Amino acid sequence: MKSPIRVAVTGAAGQIGYSLLFRVASGAMFGLQQPVILQLIEAPIEKAMKALEGVAMELDDCAFPLLKGVVTTDNPVVGFKGANWCLLVGAKPRGPGMERADLLKDNGRIFIAQGKVIDEVAADDARVAVVGNPANTNCMIAASQAKRLTADRFTAMVRLDQNRAQTQLAKKAGVDLTEVKNIFIYGNHSPTMFPAFAQATIGGKPAAQVINDQAWLQGPFCEIVGKRGAAIIAARGASSAASAANALVDHVRDLNTPGTVHSVAVKSNGAYGFDPNVWAGMPVRTTAPGAFEVITNHTMDDFAKSKIAATNKELVDERAFVAELIK
Ligand code: NAD
Ligand code: LMR
Repeated sequence: MKSPIRVAVTGAAGQIGYSLLFRVASGAMFGLQQPVILQLIEAPIEKAMKALEGVAMELDDCAFPLLKGVVTTDNPVVGFKGANWCLLVGAKPRGPGMERADLLKDNGRIFIAQGKVIDEVAADDARVAVVGNPANTNCMIAASQAKRLTADRFTAMVRLDQNRAQTQLAKKAGVDLTEVKNIFIYGNHSPTMFPAFAQATIGGKPAAQVINDQAWLQGPFCEIVGKRGAAIIAARGASSAASAANALVDHVRDLNTPGTVHSVAVKSNGAYGFDPNVWAGMPVRTTAPGAFEVITNHTMDDFAKSKIAATNKELVDERAFVAELIK
């Protein structure tokens, strides 16, 4: 058996946390040969800490063979100490009628503090995955505080959007979703994101040829995927949780699986015209556990270029909005 890795999770008593922790402890994220120690971090609020104790009791009661320890704390220095993976879920979610911009400054402050502490106390090989919204900009904020850990260690999640897009294409084509490949998300985890359908294939053929409805691909498809989060909030009265936790399992597992090509929000290197100071969703290939290269050779037509320009502008505007915070 390998030695355990330390996985820090913020917002561990929240909705996503409740769907996530049991899958991490069962081996779904790091594999069935990799023991884990969970370091669960909550806000310093009595109710949250009490709920966290309950979650830790349930983890005990699962008797997971791979779970070698559980730490519960409201102190980020304790929670991130020696962490190999830092899963930053804890943040205020959007409620009905709220836009992501409403969350920017409130949640941004959390990521300033956490970015600093992670840089000081996490393991040398630490990787950070941000889920708390607005995820791309929160990731940029956390990374801005790091002096030791390089920018490529900080990623944000757009995998839920990729999974949503895959399912929508499969439903439209009337095929099993495993037939749909190469659908990647560009830009922000927000309604401006661009699910790049031109590269997608269905049963090995171009998705656009199989679906044969360019108006649907450019209109309703992009809209359904981009606004799926709001549709779930309208239906459940709360933001997506189980599907978000599932997407985070996919995000981390695929970042640890060399050869996998998947959508991740990473620091832009200027590819596809993204501003070099933003974290934008794009296809990456995992090159070694925790390391990746951006796929830069996807051809974009005028429609794709205009969608990417719009989502890039939103990311640049979000960065400007929090500029005071990251000084
Ligand atoms: P939730 O309110 O159920 O849970 C959030 C938890 O974070 C709470 O328990 C809260 O006490 C905790 N928290 C707040 N501040 C904290 C801090 N400083 N340190 C540690 N913990 C802290 O919310 P949720 O439904 O679990 O969603 C969490 C976040 O994930 C939200 O911002 C939501 O919008 C976002 N989200 C992102 C995606 C995505 O695809 N990127 C998908 C769904 C939800
Ligand atoms: C989602 O995409 O489901 C989440 O980011 C929640 C939201 O605010 O849209």
